[in-house]
Amino acid sequence: MRIGIVGAGAMAEALGTGWAKAGHDIVVGARDAGKATDLAARLGARAGTFADAAAHGDAVLAALPHAAMLDVVASLADALAGRAVIDCSNPIVPGPGGLMLTTDGGPSAARLIADAAPDAHVVKAFNVCAAEVWARYADGLAVPLCGEDAGALDLVRTLVTDLGAIPLDAGGLDRAGYVEATAAFVIGVWFAGGDPRTVLPLVEHARG
Ligand SMILES: NC(=O)c1ccc[n+]([C@@H]2O[C@H](COP(=O)([O-])OP(=O)(O)OC[C@H]3O[C@@H](n4cnc5c(N)ncnc54)[C@H](OP(=O)(O)O)[C@@H]3O)[C@@H](O)[C@H]2O)c1
Repeated sequence: MRIGIVGAGAMAEALGTGWAKAGHDIVVGARDAGKATDLAARLGARAGTFADAAAHGDAVLAALPHAAMLDVVASLADALAGRAVIDCSNPIVPGPGGLMLTTDGGPSAARLIADAAPDAHVVKAFNVCAAEVWARYADGLAVPLCGEDAGALDLVRTLVTDLGAIPLDAGGLDRAGYVEATAAFVIGVWFAGGDPRTVLPLVEHARG
């Protein structure tokens, strides 16, 4: 698969490394040409601009902070038309009572991205766990996916299984806010030293 990666930070590297190992053809785009070149060299990929990455990918990972995401995606909207755009972002900031969503009460980050690039096929994925998890511990993890385009969802399912993880269909893009809120909750528990998995029963016990 041709993959464009917009951003050259921790998530770009963690996911890109797994996808490069799976044999995908990757272009890394960054605002800093040196950072794009360095990450591309580590992945065995090619480097370019954000626009180069967007124009390359059948699937395009948008791996930017939420605060920067919408302007960048809007500037790439034409190039992203018809492509699967993977939104791994968490619109999370520290709040008085713990981590909070900057999108609370409004559209999800994924919906805002879809609005910024209306002809792209946005899929929410990979936002719940840390970059280090995707790099080292993805095997057997379920990855919630929210999206509306069947073809885009198929591409992202492939990219999930390439990491040894398991796609978990979590509904349309209107469900993405729940996955973002889940990330705010579980990351808050992890940061506080707890284990959010202890909240959940075994599946055979879940219905009582
Ligand atoms: N890290 C995690 O464990 C993790 C886990 C789940 C989800 N996420 C989400 O994944 C997304 C990426 O996170 P990350 O950890 O990979 O971030 P990161 O390591 O800080 O990398 C962010 C990338 O975005 C670029 N960038 C930052 N501000 C920008 C701006 N104003 N305009 C254009 N480019 C800009 C950075 O470029 P420069 O290097 O030039 O600043 C860098 O390439 C975030 O939305 C985050 O919430 C992260």
